[in-house]
Amino acid sequence: MPNKNNNLNKRLFSKEKDDEFYTRYEDIEKELKHYKDHFEGKTVYCNCDDPEKSNFVKYFMDNFHGLKLRKLMATHYTQKGFSHLLEYMGKTPVIVRLDHDGDFRSPQCTDLLEKADIIVTNPPFSLFRDFMQVMERCKKDFLVIGSINGVKYKHIFDMFRKNNVRIGYNKADWFIKPDGSMRHVPTFWYTSFPVNKTDVIRHMEYQKYDNVDAINVGRIQDIPKGYTGVMGVPLTYMGYHDPESYELLGRIKPSIEGRNLYERILIRAIPGKEWKKGFADTFGMVNHC
Ligand SMILES: C[S@@+](CC[C@H](N)C(=O)[O-])C[C@H]1O[C@@H](n2cnc3c(N)ncnc32)[C@H](O)[C@@H]1O
Repeated sequence: MPNKNNNLNKRLFSKEKDDEFYTRYEDIEKELKHYKDHFEGKTVYCNCDDPEKSNFVKYFMDNFHGLKLRKLMATHYTQKGFSHLLEYMGKTPVIVRLDHDGDFRSPQCTDLLEKADIIVTNPPFSLFRDFMQVMERCKKDFLVIGSINGVKYKHIFDMFRKNNVRIGYNKADWFIKPDGSMRHVPTFWYTSFPVNKTDVIRHMEYQKYDNVDAINVGRIQDIPKGYTGVMGVPLTYMGYHDPESYELLGRIKPSIEGRNLYERILIRAIPGKEWKKGFADTFGMVNHC
């Protein structure tokens, strides 16, 4: 049977360089909301971003005042001819022609890196290794998307060992192709910012249902502490139900990515009453969260 991951690797890191995948606005919003405090007074540089296509540029222009940014800069790669630099300080964007193709490794883009505080982008998948080397060399903060296989590269793995990079909160798995179709590529957010690991585990371990806005909790001992959204739990939950702490919302037959699951009970923690100790501690179970 063909190995799916090998095929993916071949596609992403071989000569067949298809780097035109655009990031969805909602994926940017979902991740960026965790780092808002880091942006005040800062210059953000999106160095692989065509302002006409990039949702990163759109996001930072839309949220320029909310994030209290100082400046936004964006450059992008052009296969032929000259690229452009967009500069935005909250009023009218200024666009200046560059005298090169906008390669993130070029001297002009490296100079722009020096002027920036934070690099935020989804760089070309085929150049992720080089990109992360540039990030480490420039010693700026960064928040970038890269293939999950990136963690295996020696240089990037060393960055993890030195604690110079962390994996962010969400996964971005769907990208927009220039023809408007969607492409599935499993990726992580890689960042120099601190990441709360308890939150990461919580976000990544629990999948969302296709048919209702709730997370799936496969075993009652895995009911997360302090989670205030809707959760689907196995029927055995009823043996432990405490109406003081959790509200019963109903029953569903959920599915995840098209796969049908057994019936689940939907519950939600009662605000302010959610179990401080967590379900597992209360019942003497092992909680992995
Ligand atoms: C995965 S796409 C993401 C585009 C955009 N950052 C986004 O998130 O929507 C990577 C982009 O990097 C561009 N690119 C390719 N080689 C590059 C280089 N050497 N320097 C800068 N950008 C490059 C590609 O043209 C492509 O648009």
